[in-house]
Amino acid sequence: MALRITVIGTGYLGATHAAAMAELGFEVLGLDVVPEKIALLSQGRVPMYEPGLEELLGKHVAGIEGSSGRLRFTTSFEEVADFGDVHFVCVNTPQKPGEYACDMSYVESALASLAPHLKRPALVVGKSTVPVGSAERLAAELAATAPVGEEAELAWNPEFLREGFAVDDTLHPDRIVVGVRGARAEELLREVYRTPVAEGSPFIVTDFPTAELVKTAANSFLATKISFINAMAEVCEAADGDVAKLAEALGHDDRIGRKFLRAGIGFGGGCLPKDIRAFMARAGELGADQALTFLREVDSVNMRRRGHMVELALEALGTTSFLGKRVAVLGATFKPDSDDVRDSPALNVAGQIHLQGGQVTVYDPKGMDNARRIFPTLGYADSALEAVRGADVVLHLTEWREFRELDPAGLAAAVATPTLLDGRNALDPEVWRKAGWTFRAMGRPRA
Ligand code: UDX
Repeated sequence: MALRITVIGTGYLGATHAAAMAELGFEVLGLDVVPEKIALLSQGRVPMYEPGLEELLGKHVAGIEGSSGRLRFTTSFEEVADFGDVHFVCVNTPQKPGEYACDMSYVESALASLAPHLKRPALVVGKSTVPVGSAERLAAELAATAPVGEEAELAWNPEFLREGFAVDDTLHPDRIVVGVRGARAEELLREVYRTPVAEGSPFIVTDFPTAELVKTAANSFLATKISFINAMAEVCEAADGDVAKLAEALGHDDRIGRKFLRAGIGFGGGCLPKDIRAFMARAGELGADQALTFLREVDSVNMRRRGHMVELALEALGTTSFLGKRVAVLGATFKPDSDDVRDSPALNVAGQIHLQGGQVTVYDPKGMDNARRIFPTLGYADSALEAVRGADVVLHLTEWREFRELDPAGLAAAVATPTLLDGRNALDPEVWRKAGWTFRAMGRPRA
């Protein structure tokens, strides 16, 4: 009989994973403890913006006309335990307030809610990003609390999906990493991922700690690459060099590669910042903190970028205070093609300027609702044109395609002063300068 799969937690990761598993041909039951989310998903609607996800849900959610009917949702752990052979745990592990360590309470409570209902053999697969050593502890807890005992097995299978590309990354992963203890767990996971492996995704089998570490190491490497180029941007500004050209030239070396070398206001989101901090905290607990002191520098270079953008805005205004100044902010999300504003550098810069007395108006193609919710006192506009009307300076802080397609001449006519600061090195300086703008990009020479 075909494997039946459940997915616990229906955020970016879980909702996408559930839909992808249905696409791969499995019967899937998704669970969330928030009934409103389940109500939306059961109608094939997505509680966040993720390109392609709603279409994929529409193909599979039971009750939708023409769907495969392979995907359903519930709030009941009992139903999930009865239904599934393989249970994927896809809940959040956010940063603990005021600490570096990550908050494991959602993972722990998901397992504590599921385990007492596991009355037949099951594989529980953690996908969340957790501190190394968690899987070993959770495996013991699972076996101790599940009625089937040792036949409730654990595996760790970190997820590397990027927001904005979640569907494609899940269906065509560039690698599948599984941390397992026994042959049965490996066999089941090979069955789950049969299609992507047949299509070329490497399948890497390892132990628990290595599987957990692959994820934190990958995100630490990416964060380091971004902070490296941002450190080079600081030097370029001091030496009158051009970080965009520098990155282009570096990227031609295959050993370095072109990706993740875009200098600007730095990284944000629900993963990179909290993952490097949680990694440092865990290394400290293990007595290996010296190995990761460089991540402290990666974090501080990154945080400095936000303050530097605020300084550049003041410099562009030619004043020492934002009082009485109108600042237009293009972009609120932490990256384009997402509505996620968690730890968003763009929103942080907008907030700092607002708190220093500036009159800030923000526009973002998809992130307005989330931005309004967490920062209700900022000004918001319904379009880029409306946001820049009467502005003394315009800040480009999230590189949406829509902003690259703006008409610089049309915008110049709407602002008080045509000055633009590009915090993402994504706009073409020549095009904007030709249209009459004073244009400055981080880490690049002034005109
Ligand atoms: C990241 C990892 O890429 C993914 O593999 C993991 O599963 C989750 O964390 P995500 O948070 O979706 O994914 O975003 P990502 O595309 O990695 O970008 C992170 C941040 O870095 C964004 O704020 C982005 O603007 C910034 N960034 C990225 C740069 O500042 N410069 C770059 O060159 C690339």
